[in-house]
Amino acid sequence: MPVNHADSTASLPSAGTLPSANGVVHTMEVRDVHKSFGPFDVLKGLNLNFADDAITTILGPSGTGKSVLIKHLVGLLEPDAGEVLIFGKDIWRISERERYELRRRFGVLFQDGALFGSMNIYDNVAFPLRKHTNKTESEIADIAMARLAEVGLEEASGKLPSEISGGMRKRAGFARALIMEPDIVLFDEPDSGLDPVRTSLLNDLILDMHARHKGTYLLVTHDIRTARKVSDYVGLIWKGKVVHYGEAEGAFASEDPFVRQFLSGESAGPLGMD
Ligand SMILES: Nc1ncnc2c1ncn2[C@@H]1O[C@H](COP(=O)(O)OP(=O)(O)OP(=O)(O)O)[C@@H](O)[C@H]1O
Ligand SMILES: [Mg+2]
Repeated sequence: MPVNHADSTASLPSAGTLPSANGVVHTMEVRDVHKSFGPFDVLKGLNLNFADDAITTILGPSGTGKSVLIKHLVGLLEPDAGEVLIFGKDIWRISERERYELRRRFGVLFQDGALFGSMNIYDNVAFPLRKHTNKTESEIADIAMARLAEVGLEEASGKLPSEISGGMRKRAGFARALIMEPDIVLFDEPDSGLDPVRTSLLNDLILDMHARHKGTYLLVTHDIRTARKVSDYVGLIWKGKVVHYGEAEGAFASEDPFVRQFLSGESAGPLGMD
């Protein structure tokens, strides 16, 4: 049976849940997270309280820690200091089993796509259902084919990832990320390597899927047009910290030279390469 989004959120355990300063428990929150790799300080006290059931876009220069942030949110990296709260729970202060359960509520599209090269598109998309549920093959087929149809890949279901285009692989990864009806969807540069038309189609798909399935979406992108098109909220990361977070409309209208340079992609301004 498909997970009902509203019910699954309502049935969450409340013990150990940490509300925000305003008393609300958010889907996803990062508090003062620090992370270094050897001598390199990547996240330097990152704070972000993601808007629930909205699409947040994160922008920031290459190497600034956006993918590292995504890996923290899904519990693949542990912070050196600070907290990552998912549904109000510090994911490193719960049991391994609880963390595993929480991870099942995420759909993630990693930067490198990460389809299994030896499996056809159908098997790639069906994989999480086979791994994490007791559904029969016929139930799995119904769900997987519905998702493939939503992303326009019904016809390509029997093909291997190497036999389809980059845009199609992104859509397949997207279908797989959504197959468990996740409460949280994380996309790491879903638009990288796509031409402008395919990027635009993918953005329509993101908006369409969000409207249909709801959930808290986080999208990392370098493409300002993508950010303009899909964002409800925009976060800017610079040197391991969040330097701006707010409604997309305000961010794009901002007079702040820092924010303006970020969102216009200009080389002149307060941001340098160092
Ligand atoms: N597992 C790791 N071990 C060592 N260093 C790492 C590791 N993961 C990331 N880094 C370093 O952390 C920094 C931030 O990397 P990250 O991949 O998060 O950047 P990014 O903001 O996603 O960049 P891009 O826009 O190019 O994808 C980089 O300097 C990277 O080399
Ligand atoms: Mg990255």
